[in-house]
Amino acid sequence: MSDIVRIGMLGGGTVGQGVARIIRDTAHTIERATGHRIEMGPVLVRDASLGRPGIDPSSITTDPQAVLGNPDVDIIIEVMGGVDPTREWLVQALRSGTSVVTANKQLLARHAPELLAAAEEGGSELRFEASVCAAIPVIKVLRESLLAAEIESVMGIVNGTTNYILTEMRKSGMAYAEALTQAQDLGYAEADPTEDVGGGDAAAKMAILSSIAFHTRVSIDDVPHVGIDQLQGDDVDIAHELGFVTKLLGVARLVDGAVSVRVHPALVPGDHPLAAINGADNAVLLESSIVRQIMLVGPGAGGTETASAVVSDVLSILGSNPGSFLGGALVDAGRPMAQDGSLDSAFYLRIDVADKPGVLARVSSVLSDSGVSILTVLQRGEGEAARLVMILHRGPESRVTEAMAALRALPEVRDEPVLIHVVGDGQASA
Ligand code: NAP
Ligand code: HSE
Repeated sequence: MSDIVRIGMLGGGTVGQGVARIIRDTAHTIERATGHRIEMGPVLVRDASLGRPGIDPSSITTDPQAVLGNPDVDIIIEVMGGVDPTREWLVQALRSGTSVVTANKQLLARHAPELLAAAEEGGSELRFEASVCAAIPVIKVLRESLLAAEIESVMGIVNGTTNYILTEMRKSGMAYAEALTQAQDLGYAEADPTEDVGGGDAAAKMAILSSIAFHTRVSIDDVPHVGIDQLQGDDVDIAHELGFVTKLLGVARLVDGAVSVRVHPALVPGDHPLAAINGADNAVLLESSIVRQIMLVGPGAGGTETASAVVSDVLSILGSNPGSFLGGALVDAGRPMAQDGSLDSAFYLRIDVADKPGVLARVSSVLSDSGVSILTVLQRGEGEAARLVMILHRGPESRVTEAMAALRALPEVRDEPVLIHVVGDGQASA
């Protein structure tokens, strides 16, 4: 690569503007560290009339080929999002030998094998640190520092928008819709925020993290996910009274050599390290018998924060050789996906029932028939109805699923029972 490295960028929104600003403000440091002077080249957008702080207006284009077919572009940064046409464009760039840095988790969680194959074919590099947990260098740590650490579990808060919403609802009593609007205004949310609140964004990130941590291919289709959009304020409040904090968690584990990855709301004991992660911050807790526990914490969303990871990937490309360890870290070890229900968990169960004699006994008997054991019970009468809240002992999830089917069939059960994972053994202290 020559002394002057020209960057072409696909997208000039929240993250793209952050990238342009950081490159402009740190050009001197970058040149001293890498020996290369970076110049921002064409920036592709949809609407050329919009103001874009940090981006030179003369570099704005609406013609994709001004970036993709431009022989002067050495590295392409993709901060445009979406799966199509992004996939086709990045495959074209990588095959032709242009290295790519992307923040696009949805694309990677679906098409990483195709993109990596295109990079191999073209002798180019594909880097994607910003696709997971924004500013936290979790991918570099897993790929480089912990490559041989035999990671057994990855648990984390990997979506900034939902953590911001849950924090604001708990701390300042803000309504869900208002907190979501604030997260959008602050640039945390995806273009379609249902990706965030529905758990799809976290599922994509967990597919990427578990692929790297377990050296296997996990696609977003392998990751069942439930978001916070199905969570009710009442349950967040009751959980808080019981000493838990509600979080949207990504949980990936090796179970007898098989891989289990999922995303769901969970109650975290108040003194657990993940309970203290607030606002748009993210945290990833890595466990292995070799390194025991490592937790990485930091900003999980935001234009400048994400841009910092994008720029660090550009620096890695400038300072490393094509075809280095990157492809190898994603070698497919061919692990199977674990069967649903094969894991153990404690649960929070909330059931709204008719307040009649014997109802609690019937609910308890349904649970015990399935081998589910109760740790804590809270009962509140509300006129003719009663609300039963239980913390269920840790045990096989398949038993709880079986009990839920029987509970739904009880005539005294009024609404759909609410079931939420509890981290640990069900105690409010970790
Ligand atoms: P954004 O503000 O919506 O920016 C997207 C940019 O791409 C806009 O400039 C848009 O043009 C352009 N664009 C989109 N589709 C296009 C198309 N078909 N042709 C040409 N230009 C197109 O999004 P963002 O927040 O910067 O996010 C960008 C990427 O980073 C996404 O993959 C996102 O998941 C990822 N990411 C975001 C964050 C965050 O905190 N925001 C964190 C980590 C990763 P116009 O401006 O003209 O509409
Ligand atoms: N929408 C994402 C989030 C951006 O809120 O975490 C970071 O990937």
